[in-house]
Amino acid sequence: MTSRIIAVEPFDLVVFGGAGDLAYRKLLPALYHRCRDGQLPGTGRIIGVSRRAMSDEAYRENTRQALVDHVPESERDGTTVDSFLDRLHFISVDATGDAGWSDLAEALKTGDDRIRAFYLAVGPELFGTICKRLGQEGLVTPETRVIIEKPIGHDLDSACAVNDAVGSVFEESQIYRIDHYLGKETVQNLMALRFGNTLLEPLWRNASVDHVQITVAETLGVEGRGGYYDNAGALRDMIQNHLLQLLCLVAMEPPAFMDADSVRDEKLKVLRSLKPIAEGNATALTVRGQYRAGAGPEGSVPAYSSEVDNPDTTTETFVAIKAEIANWRWSGVPFYLRTGKRLATRVSEIVVAFRAIPHSIFGEGAGALKPNKLVIRLQPDEGVRLWMMIKDPGPGGMRLRYVPLDMSFAEAFKVRSPDAYERLILDVIRGNQTLFMRRDEVEAAWKWIDPIADAWERGDEAPKGYTAGTWGPSASVALIERDGRTWYDEQG
Ligand code: BG6
Repeated sequence: MTSRIIAVEPFDLVVFGGAGDLAYRKLLPALYHRCRDGQLPGTGRIIGVSRRAMSDEAYRENTRQALVDHVPESERDGTTVDSFLDRLHFISVDATGDAGWSDLAEALKTGDDRIRAFYLAVGPELFGTICKRLGQEGLVTPETRVIIEKPIGHDLDSACAVNDAVGSVFEESQIYRIDHYLGKETVQNLMALRFGNTLLEPLWRNASVDHVQITVAETLGVEGRGGYYDNAGALRDMIQNHLLQLLCLVAMEPPAFMDADSVRDEKLKVLRSLKPIAEGNATALTVRGQYRAGAGPEGSVPAYSSEVDNPDTTTETFVAIKAEIANWRWSGVPFYLRTGKRLATRVSEIVVAFRAIPHSIFGEGAGALKPNKLVIRLQPDEGVRLWMMIKDPGPGGMRLRYVPLDMSFAEAFKVRSPDAYERLILDVIRGNQTLFMRRDEVEAAWKWIDPIADAWERGDEAPKGYTAGTWGPSASVALIERDGRTWYDEQG
């Protein structure tokens, strides 16, 4: 069966920060792809907004260039590009002043009750201001949605303040908090794997699972985002959102339905069941690191402190955590989380490591018996790999071998894997909040993160150094090896 493309209802998508990096690099290319697949209705408009003045024509030309930069040539054809660009408009609006708001209001008077979505691709300090103004200008109709993206706060209190400000204008059902990891194909596949098959569910618990590993490793550094990153660090930038969301999808109970609240209720229960990590146990259960000069994907790279031009920085660019979920299903099963910048390879994967067999019937000549592992690879080379013991083929007695049953999605399906934003933006238009974070989830995640950040801040230990291009500080290896386990590598 091939995928079905269903066009969405007529809409106006207004992108604040419409001439910014996220818009040109991700949002507009994603919308182009959806347009190319025939999913945008003829009446769907995209309105870029920012303080600077720009004509519609100039915005279209800039976007044309952005498509050249971010969409492969084989996926760009002249007619589709032109018809996509025709949907684009630009309005200059001062988010913190008065200029331009009446122009925006005028442009949105279409005389129909079309769907309206405001994407706030701007700094979080503007979320509240813009929402209030949208309310005052009477631009929030029942069919209006607002899209915001992390950082949603720096800690629980500031996250609540952002949520209060946005929530004073929009109902929770109108607020779409993006975690772009939830839009990745393989992340959604995790739900298909778990709940579309009977095979895994009986094993998906502490009786059969020894531990779980979630790794999101990047080779890049902070890429010109040093100002933001040096204030955030890997704990807030990655663990609080992306890794905890992955953990929730692995650990949650089967929701009764695939609708937004059924799924989010289950994720919330997981977040609330995480065992607290604070001053007393942070040293034993967490490792934070910062990269020194070393190797990047294209040659040697400077230390993090030089990249952000802050010799005294104690911001972490690497985190490993041994987390535990205090409930019946997962009690006693560690979830090892690991993320970092400037690591040896770019890879995001989830490893479910099963328990060893209880008793071996094979003699010594059979070789070492390794426990099964299910590896869900999110990127690159998306796929699923199940490691199993089989008999080594041929004569020579009963020797066993550890081999992967492999499914590469690219090879199996031969279709382009859509970018997360393609799915997520269209879900907003469709009004489907399943892949977006609800307020209570974001706050529960901060509630678990804050004591870790506090413990680090109060402790006098600096992040452990690691050479760029390696797998992070040796302490992260010790974190898992102390428990008699090892981080997964390609060899199983
Ligand atoms: C973002 C972080 O949310 O995710 C970045 O702010 C990080 O620091 C990025 O590089 C990783 O996303 P992806 O999709 O490239 O794995």
